[in-house]
Amino acid sequence: CGIVGYIGNLDSKEILLKGLEKLEYRGYDSAGIAVKNEDGIQIFKEKGRIADLRSIVDEDVLAHVGIGHTRWATHGVPSRGNSHPHQSASGRFTLVHNGVIENYDLLKHEYLADVSFKSETDTEVIVQLVEKFANEGLSVLEAFRKTLTLLHGSYALALLDAEDNNTIYVAKNKSPLLVGLGDGFNVVASDAMAMLQVTDQFVELMDKEIVIVTKDVVTIQNLDGEVISRAPYTAELDASDIEKGTYPHYMLKEIDEQPAVVRKIIQHYQDEQGKLVIDRDIIDAVNASDRVYIIAAGTSYHAGLVGKQFIEKMAKIPVEVHISSEFGYNMPLLSEKPLFVFISQSGETADSRAVLVQVKEMGYPALTITNVPGSTLSREADYTLLLHAGPEIAVASTKAYTAQLAVLAILAEVTAKSRSLEVGFDLIHELGLVANAMDVLCDSKEILEVIAREFFSVTRNAFFIGRGIDFYVGLEGALKLKEISYIQAEGFAGGELKHGTIALIEEGTPVVALATQESVNLSIRGNVKEVVARGANPCIISMNGLNMDEDSFVIPEVHELLTPLISVIPLQILAYYAALHRDCDVDKPRNLAKSVTVE
Ligand code: G6P
Repeated sequence: CGIVGYIGNLDSKEILLKGLEKLEYRGYDSAGIAVKNEDGIQIFKEKGRIADLRSIVDEDVLAHVGIGHTRWATHGVPSRGNSHPHQSASGRFTLVHNGVIENYDLLKHEYLADVSFKSETDTEVIVQLVEKFANEGLSVLEAFRKTLTLLHGSYALALLDAEDNNTIYVAKNKSPLLVGLGDGFNVVASDAMAMLQVTDQFVELMDKEIVIVTKDVVTIQNLDGEVISRAPYTAELDASDIEKGTYPHYMLKEIDEQPAVVRKIIQHYQDEQGKLVIDRDIIDAVNASDRVYIIAAGTSYHAGLVGKQFIEKMAKIPVEVHISSEFGYNMPLLSEKPLFVFISQSGETADSRAVLVQVKEMGYPALTITNVPGSTLSREADYTLLLHAGPEIAVASTKAYTAQLAVLAILAEVTAKSRSLEVGFDLIHELGLVANAMDVLCDSKEILEVIAREFFSVTRNAFFIGRGIDFYVGLEGALKLKEISYIQAEGFAGGELKHGTIALIEEGTPVVALATQESVNLSIRGNVKEVVARGANPCIISMNGLNMDEDSFVIPEVHELLTPLISVIPLQILAYYAALHRDCDVDKPRNLAKSVTVE
């Protein structure tokens, strides 16, 4: 979910709606705004996208104060009733919330037994509690504060009081939230992108802080009421980075940006002598560790699997890769000197953040590799490496994945050099070749569109196989396809197919096989033969030099270890066209969100 708020001299409706459009990547199953003027508070909310909300907002209502929300359902189905803003029983208080309140049921029974609830959400408990405490005689600020002390869980909140035209009350715990400063107005947003339309001056908020926002003043307090002063920073985002330009979809734009991103990364991590460099502190931390634990979710987890190969092969440090949401329950027996590396495009994924909090409490060092400077995971880890990929808007991650691989390769190389290990190749040169190969692949969309039509237009399921490093790319290829085209797709180690999944192969089932590694080229082709013998429709994607007549698509040759940076691109493009041919919403696939800020 994402929240916004505006208080100032202008009409708030359009600013809130535009802000929500920029936050749609955080969830888009319902949305709403509440605006306030002398006539009181008016709420507009609707199931569906911001465009659906926009169509029901009354153009004639003028209001200088407002809050808004775009939802990714956790408690309660997507519906108008469950969408935010939520109001207290008397209608005095109106609230938007991003996060999850774990003890909402308990609070409901303990404090609100006689209140009748209008929604199934955990959020409504918060707004009802504020009203209850205000009715008992507390000031709004005190009632808000008392409510916050009772909440267990995550929240970014913005609260309006119908009896006060001049204030938005804001609070944060675990969910991201920023206050933006302007001349004659102030704003609130889950992400700076939402309010770049009006300001680039933002103040970060820390957990368990309350903010009293008026049009001229922003006062930050902790839960004990002590005032905290914090200087604003300038958000360095370029608003044009977050526009689609002439592209029909963000995903296609972001796929095409990959060669430039790799070149930018080389530039960022290069010193004046043309050598790759990373902060000495980070390299010391890697060298001081006896084992690296990579923690990530989704596509970033897949990048971690490849990153393990880079670090182990180049820097000779053992690496384990864990899914964030599982780590807490299945914590491995840790080595004596672990280093935790969090890979996260957004830097906000709640599952990853939970692990970071846990390992920091245990006293271990942590490095975050992220695309978003100032994000929660970046702020809370000891060290950060940035991806420099520019904002990634499409829910299906593309350029962040290749950027993660490039940065992990650089981390592995610089660490190796610091340990006087020979990596055996010039990484800058090889990454340059990767960028050139990416250019070629981005120019091959027409043929990939034809392949997508042939293999994925009508199928119900699809399999991706590979051996060695190709296996990990297959996992990512399958994830891309299922995320946006809703074809049931799975990635497998080539040899593993025969241990179960081959039972699913029917006449015409597409099996995408990756063949970029000389050592396993013949064995993966053996697996292809096995599935073809059972009726599969094979789509072999091989690397130049290893290719054979039956292959569907050949990628340019790059260094063996770096093939994931380019073999993933045809898979991204195939997924894109598969989704397009099946009339799916490419940038905003159903049920997903770009940044999942709930555990
Ligand atoms: C969501 C997104 C995925 C992403 C994952 C991890 O599920 O839809 O595209 O890979 O979160 O996100 P992160 O920002 O931590 O990389």
